[in-house]
Amino acid sequence: MPGLMSWTTATSLLLSSWITICSARPSSYAEWAADSAIRRKQGNGLDTSGSAIVSYEHGELQWGLRQLYEKTGNKTYYNYIVTGANNIVYDNGTVHGSYTISEYTLDPVRTGPTFLYLYQQTKQQKWKTAADTFKTQLNGHPRTAQGQFWHKKRYPNQGWLDGIYMGDVFYAQYTKDFQASNQTAWTDIVSQFSLMYQNTLQQPGAANYTGLLYHGYDYSHTAIWASSDRGHSPEIWDRALGWYLMALVDVLDIIPPSDAGRPKLLDILTTLAPRLRDAADPSSGVWWLVITQPGRAGNYFESSGSAMYVYALLKGVRQGYILDPDGSVVAAAKKAYQYMTSHWVVANADGTMSWTNTVQVGSLDGNADYAYYIGVPQVLNDLKGLAAFLLASLEYEKL
Ligand SMILES: *[C@@H]1O[C@H](CO)[C@@H](O)[C@H](O)[C@H]1NC(C)=O
Ligand SMILES: *[C@@H]1O[C@H](CO)[C@@H](O)[C@H](O)[C@H]1NC(C)=O
Ligand SMILES: *[C@@H]1O[C@H](CO)[C@@H](O)[C@H](O)[C@H]1NC(C)=O
Ligand SMILES: *[C@@H]1O[C@H](CO)[C@@H](O)[C@H](O)[C@H]1NC(C)=O
Repeated sequence: MPGLMSWTTATSLLLSSWITICSARPSSYAEWAADSAIRRKQGNGLDTSGSAIVSYEHGELQWGLRQLYEKTGNKTYYNYIVTGANNIVYDNGTVHGSYTISEYTLDPVRTGPTFLYLYQQTKQQKWKTAADTFKTQLNGHPRTAQGQFWHKKRYPNQGWLDGIYMGDVFYAQYTKDFQASNQTAWTDIVSQFSLMYQNTLQQPGAANYTGLLYHGYDYSHTAIWASSDRGHSPEIWDRALGWYLMALVDVLDIIPPSDAGRPKLLDILTTLAPRLRDAADPSSGVWWLVITQPGRAGNYFESSGSAMYVYALLKGVRQGYILDPDGSVVAAAKKAYQYMTSHWVVANADGTMSWTNTVQVGSLDGNADYAYYIGVPQVLNDLKGLAAFLLASLEYEKL
């Protein structure tokens, strides 16, 4: 029966190539996310047209790749960090890729922890020089009268939650590495977190109260979106809060255990963690794009913010920063993580995974109202979300 034989052969060939595809998918989601980003050349210091770009989301990916390298010992991850950083720093240490210090924007500074890491690893002067450039920027960075860094020079007096992740993880690591006894710097770092917290905390009595943090504030109360009483923006946007919480758990690893400001950071984190747990959608376990408007038409479950929360909550508990006596914080994070892997991870035929449901941007550049946030498109494989999923997976896989 030659016909049947060839049918069987064809079937088994199909089956074996299917098995090859499946076995190409690592059992670790952290590795799968990282390998997929690398295969797609994401986060390598170049934009889609191949030009150098100093990009915070590349810094975010590198933060995850570094942990993955430390966990697996696989040099592929380390080498990818080096390649990405080399694409934006010349041999003499000059940071290029559209970086201009005089714009005083916090976003590019998020690549700084990569330079500090590579300096620790290699002691090559170029990485120290590159890091010094960002520290020089922070030294001259414009601030509010209370001392908060402006998000960018072109947004006078505005503090955005995002900026805490962009600027202060670097600020803390730089201080630890080169000025560990500079108390002015440690006090300033804690102050960046606490000023942001005080000025954006949603107050009891607000409609749809969660007790979480609005996206940002304008100390001068003049921005179109600034509330007349405190100057905060109108909505709680999930990713902004995600950046802030990731920065908290990362900086708590860096700040000296004896620092007088450290209890303030712990206090903020332990206040926000149970509120965040309670703000999750009870059915799916994940979080709305606009947390202040749960279930409203046009709102949706957003994947980058949700992944950032899982990272921050699981890491916070693992490190003992968040007390979780009844296990409810970890349970909430696990529930959210399971939703992510079953709804937002897509297996591709080439063995990579794709990541869905990440909103492209959220800015306080316009009127920052509900219609604005829900009108921003979602982007497949957006690195801000994919890198957050890598970070969340690293924590989940430590459970
Ligand atoms: C390291 O990771 C790469 C994928 O990123 C993989 O191709 C390679 O097999 C891994 N190496 C080892 C020794 O596991
Ligand atoms: C650093 O190197 C770049 C590229 O070679 C060059 O354009 C720049 O002038 C150099 N900067 C300094 C300060 O030497
Ligand atoms: C200490 O930190 C402050 C704030 O970052 C900085 O302005 C100052 O130059 C630092 N002092 C030294 C000696 O490095
Ligand atoms: C409260 O939430 C509901 C449901 O999402 C929404 O329709 C309403 O606009 C929200 N109120 C405010 C003041 O945000």
